[in-house]
Amino acid sequence: MASISLANISKRFGSLSVLDNVSIDIRDREFVALVGPSGCGKSTLLRIVAGLESISDGEISIDGEVVNDLGPQKRDLAMVFQTYALYPHMTTAQNMAFPLKLRGHSALEIDKAVGQAASTLHLDDLMDRLPRALSGGQRQRVAMGRAMVREPRAFLFDEPLSNLDAKLRSHMRLEIRQLHQALNATSIYVTHDQVEAMTMADRIVVMNRGRVEQEGSPIELFDRPANLFVASFLGSPTMNMADAVLTTDDEGKPVLSFDAQTSRIPVPAFTGAPNRKVIAGLRPQHMDVVPPDEGMIQAQVQIVENTGCETNIVVAIGAETWTVQSRQRQRLAQGDVIGLIFREEHIHLFDHGSQKRIN
Ligand SMILES: Nc1ncnc2c1ncn2[C@@H]1O[C@H](COP(=O)(O)OP(=O)(O)O)[C@@H](O)[C@H]1O
Ligand SMILES: [Mg+2]
Repeated sequence: MASISLANISKRFGSLSVLDNVSIDIRDREFVALVGPSGCGKSTLLRIVAGLESISDGEISIDGEVVNDLGPQKRDLAMVFQTYALYPHMTTAQNMAFPLKLRGHSALEIDKAVGQAASTLHLDDLMDRLPRALSGGQRQRVAMGRAMVREPRAFLFDEPLSNLDAKLRSHMRLEIRQLHQALNATSIYVTHDQVEAMTMADRIVVMNRGRVEQEGSPIELFDRPANLFVASFLGSPTMNMADAVLTTDDEGKPVLSFDAQTSRIPVPAFTGAPNRKVIAGLRPQHMDVVPPDEGMIQAQVQIVENTGCETNIVVAIGAETWTVQSRQRQRLAQGDVIGLIFREEHIHLFDHGSQKRIN
């Protein structure tokens, strides 16, 4: 097992800067998800950790030892990819045994390690099958088994589930998480899928354009996103946003005023200039539908989507389009006017210019 420390890592391909001063400390046995949109540099960073890619600047250490110049084999990390890269002519057992064979382990050692991994991954009944006779999820388990038999110091996952259908993906999420609990191995898990990051990781690092936007536990990032990017990246449906002005009412209490609404919304006390332009954010789950005259704001229904458990109501608030997620069955039709209520503490406020959180 290992702690992995990335200090001020930058990476350039020619004149293209792909990673810019990235620092992340991963603790021994921690499960860290690197999440961000496609092209933000996640795979490059993971390949740098694995030793498959050089760095332009910075220092990478494993268990306190600087490994900048250490080759991939010597780093003793195992990588699991989206494409399983199994040998098509080898059975499950042979595929899993292969890395140990390469390293010259004895048949006895190999049998023991493969048997153990197979039982952890519930592969015992599939040991004689070729990859083409396995489902996507089973192949992914074999690929993980092949990584496990080496007992690496850490696991590096690069979007391992993105080839699977939605149901299998959520099943494999659980399996990888259970595997992590069983092995307690340090894991870095790259994904563009915020749901995977939220559900699997002890800690999430949100990346954008080669930089770290924010890191923290899933709940910390969900409850207190540091900027607009993180706020809109995490959570589904996406957080609603509106331009607003922070001001005070006649009694000096802080309020938020929207162009589209006559009523003013009370907000937690703030410091800073009066009449500050802000962007106010409110998650779809944090509003309740009430009759129009009881609402803190009024909205007009555009589309009603029933998912069975929840109803997503797309509404117009002036020129803004918001989504409200309700757990009640709503009898609403296009054109209906509804009221919305919410709690002050659920309002996220971001500076209009810097897009950074201010409350
Ligand atoms: N070998 C390479 N040469 C030039 N550009 C590359 C190379 N590898 C990756 N890139 C670029 O670096 C950026 C980040 O890529 P990548 O790390 O694969 O992103 P992600 O995994 O987050 O989708 C992309 O713009 C990609 O085109
Ligand atoms: Mg990638």
